Amino acid sequence: MILSGGAGTRLRPITHTSAKQLVPVANKPILFYGIEALKEAGISQIGIIVGDTEDEIREAVGDGSAWGVSITYIRQEAPLGLAHAVLTAAGFLADTPFVMYLGDNLIKEGIADFVDEFRRKDVDALILLAHVTEPQRFGVAELDGSRIVRLVEKPEQPPSDLALVGAYMFRPSILEASRSITPSWRDELEITDAIQHLIDHGHRVEAHVIDGWWKDTGHLEDLLEANRIVLENIEARCDGSIDADSRVDGRVIVEEGAEVVRSSVRGPAIIGKGTRIIDSYIGPFTSIYYGVTVEGSELEHSIVMENSSIANIPGRIENSLIGKNVEICRCFELPKTFRFVLGDNSRVGLI
Ligand code: G1P
Repeated sequence: MILSGGAGTRLRPITHTSAKQLVPVANKPILFYGIEALKEAGISQIGIIVGDTEDEIREAVGDGSAWGVSITYIRQEAPLGLAHAVLTAAGFLADTPFVMYLGDNLIKEGIADFVDEFRRKDVDALILLAHVTEPQRFGVAELDGSRIVRLVEKPEQPPSDLALVGAYMFRPSILEASRSITPSWRDELEITDAIQHLIDHGHRVEAHVIDGWWKDTGHLEDLLEANRIVLENIEARCDGSIDADSRVDGRVIVEEGAEVVRSSVRGPAIIGKGTRIIDSYIGPFTSIYYGVTVEGSELEHSIVMENSSIANIPGRIENSLIGKNVEICRCFELPKTFRFVLGDNSRVGLI
């Protein structure tokens, strides 16, 4: 099962109107990386837990045939926690072992090896851990050698720097454990507590510390970092057009129907379908999704979502996440004023 509900409060204002799992990283919605990871692990029946953004998720993912998997949508009436999501999916899970994958997580090495190992082993749960710099933002594990002593959700005093990664492998015993726990301080049924319940009741829970890169893309900085890391591995390709007055250096993908006119693009970067870059500079680690126009502007280390337009901005835009259908332009009419129409929780930095 993939979790794709949640309010995405840490990514407002983007998530006032859209699902955080559909924010594109290197021009692919984050959720699609999760579907691909499950498919690669040999899983073909996927239940996606959805909330208020159900319609948008259904529209983007469809029935799964694009990946050769079958998707079932499971509505969670409110984001009441990961263990609550497990209980919501009980009918779908039907007493089989399963993987729970958080739809806003990106695990570079995928999960195929861990799923193989879980299939071979007689354990009730296999969890993944990663060393992080801010463990208080995650579920945290205390280990004794390879044995898990304790798991605690978002501890003020973390017992280690080992965070629970958002991919878990369970046998049906997790359902009983999820029924046995009570809501946490944030009023959620925490999967961390359900796993602790398994441990306390003598079930075998194994942990793996992953070496590769992993990101929970809940915050802007994480999203930009994920974008950076995925772009680092792209191969240059041009399915659109680059005119003779433009310069493209390094690994750049120009998708179908995209146009680069009198501009400089320095990779790694990706220019989406039908997007037009005119008299502009696009710097490294920039992903521009489809239908966007960038004219007379400079942009670097940023993500721009579909159908937005950026025109004649005097300074370089960087470290930015720009939503769908956004317009940023320099106004030439008098009086010379700044004019904003910004959603709640928007952030603007001016020079
Ligand atoms: C959830 C889990 C946490 C885990 C994290 C990984 O946190 O509760 O234990 O470390 O996902 O992404 P949440 O995103 O609900 O704050």
